[in-house]
Amino acid sequence: MCGIVGYVGKQDATEVLMNGLARLEYRGYDSAGIAVFENETIKVAKSKGRLADLAEKMKQEGKPSGHAGIGHTRWATHGEPSDVNSHPHGGGTVTIVHNGIIENYKVLKDFLIKKGRVFESETDTEVVAQLLDYYYVENHGNPVEAIVKTLKDLEGSYALGVIFADFPDRVFALRKESPLIVGIGEGENFIASDVTAILQYTKKYYLLEAGEIAVLSKQGAAVYDLHYQKVQKELKIADWDVSEAEKGGYAHYMLKEIHEQPESIRKTITPRIENGLPNLEECGITPEKLLTFRKIHVVACGTAMHAGMVGKYVIEKLAKVSVNVDIASEFRYREPLVGEGDLVIIISQSGETADSLEALRLSKKLGAKTLAIVNAKGSSIARETDMLIYTHAGPEIAVASTKAYMVQIAVMYLFAFELALAKGQIDETECRRLTSVLQETPEKIAEILANKEKAQMIASELITADSLLYIGRGLDYALSMEGSLKLKEISYIHSESYAAGELKHGTISLITENMPVIAVATQRNLFEKTISNIKEVKARGAKVILVSRADYQPEKDVADMQFILPDEEDLLMPMTAVVPLQLIAYYTAVLKGTDVDKPRNLAKSVTVE
Ligand code: AGP
Repeated sequence: MCGIVGYVGKQDATEVLMNGLARLEYRGYDSAGIAVFENETIKVAKSKGRLADLAEKMKQEGKPSGHAGIGHTRWATHGEPSDVNSHPHGGGTVTIVHNGIIENYKVLKDFLIKKGRVFESETDTEVVAQLLDYYYVENHGNPVEAIVKTLKDLEGSYALGVIFADFPDRVFALRKESPLIVGIGEGENFIASDVTAILQYTKKYYLLEAGEIAVLSKQGAAVYDLHYQKVQKELKIADWDVSEAEKGGYAHYMLKEIHEQPESIRKTITPRIENGLPNLEECGITPEKLLTFRKIHVVACGTAMHAGMVGKYVIEKLAKVSVNVDIASEFRYREPLVGEGDLVIIISQSGETADSLEALRLSKKLGAKTLAIVNAKGSSIARETDMLIYTHAGPEIAVASTKAYMVQIAVMYLFAFELALAKGQIDETECRRLTSVLQETPEKIAEILANKEKAQMIASELITADSLLYIGRGLDYALSMEGSLKLKEISYIHSESYAAGELKHGTISLITENMPVIAVATQRNLFEKTISNIKEVKARGAKVILVSRADYQPEKDVADMQFILPDEEDLLMPMTAVVPLQLIAYYTAVLKGTDVDKPRNLAKSVTVE
């Protein structure tokens, strides 16, 4: 979704803004722009397309030069991607950048048109700029008063970076729902949608809350509430390093992040293991508390929801507690049967996904306890949940989630082990054994990564396919969902995941020699069943790629190609088996020449519903 940066200080603002926007590219965008004070005048440069298009435009038309300004990458919601709809937008003396959606923009626009205001773009953002200017004029040039009045009129979600022509050494910011932080430097200050945008300049930042207004100058950043009172903010220090948000020699962030998985697992689980047993006490989870939950719901979107699917199989098998997995956008509008005595687990890499955040709020309102598994520190979901387990994957830049999924499932395992022990479904010895098997997974993943050429070969067989099927049973079905999503989102090849036993109920009619099937068969008790399903598709001409374990091999010719996984306990197989699926998706996209890290139409953090 849209990215925002703002800067005031001693450096070249255009350069700082463009660097910041480059760090936010991963969020997904279709146009970009900046507004910089050149002496006392606001100079705007904006363009449809990538940051490179904006840079080219500035080369030809002149680059704004100054020390304060705001920048934006836009992911279109109101109005198509175009130069004119790109941010920043102006209204009189005000220029703004905006992330979010103003739900009542039509009413506000009608009001402003009646007041004689003329609009250039189709965006809801321009309405905010004009409204700010309207109140600014009405309030005799007081920016904070204009912001407070505007804010009271706005319905919807927003993070806003604002500059007023009369205040060339100030940047103003406010937010509701959409994220925004204030970066604190030495003689320079920043605003940004997330810390990755400012890491190269400072690690210090404030989290801006709804109803707070930040006023930045070179000397400092003051935050006010709606009654113009100064708010004392807690200074946060980002524990992400700038190198973590760089490619580090890899061709793509996605490949780098796939390789970071062993380390991400270690960082995430090691602090939560004590004397060989899971210990989630620092996250607010104790064995006594676990015994109070009757039922568990996992609510999330996309890949995070797939991590929940793995969690369901593992929790139900080990702890014998019923688990519902829901897509957040469905859950929040379905009047879910959730209430006291229930635990709702929200999984989210960004911690800002609008539907997941609303699902969390709804669950709390219905009386359930909430546990969030989140990667981005200080994000909205992390702040609003009752219990919180941070995953320590570091910044995930590629839109296609890999290492975040890996640590989400690692946490689901730890949680399931602790729950099963608390419920007396497994004894301490078994819990210790399972925990130590989990601790061994990073080495096994490293082993797979050392042999990734096989995935490359498989990918070369897939690039001509128009459509593909992923099949599996049990945990392998949960994995198939993730494998299929990964492939389609970055390679643009249509693919579906199917429970292997369900094929005969309709989907098998799609099978031809032009539809490859990727079968995942890692579960020993289901192996023969899945092999039968493979034979059924093979008999109908499908090319079969089998992802399976070394100690269970089908007869010759059952599969056309095979990716053999190192030996592993059945229950823990998803931790390793997802790696070849990620690699197959990655290499297929590379061979197809797509924009691997920033696939079309997608945003990394989906902050609108
Ligand atoms: C995964 O590859 C996706 N890009 C997407 O499905 C993602 O997992 C989903 O949007 C949820 O995001 P979150 O984890 O930040 O909430």
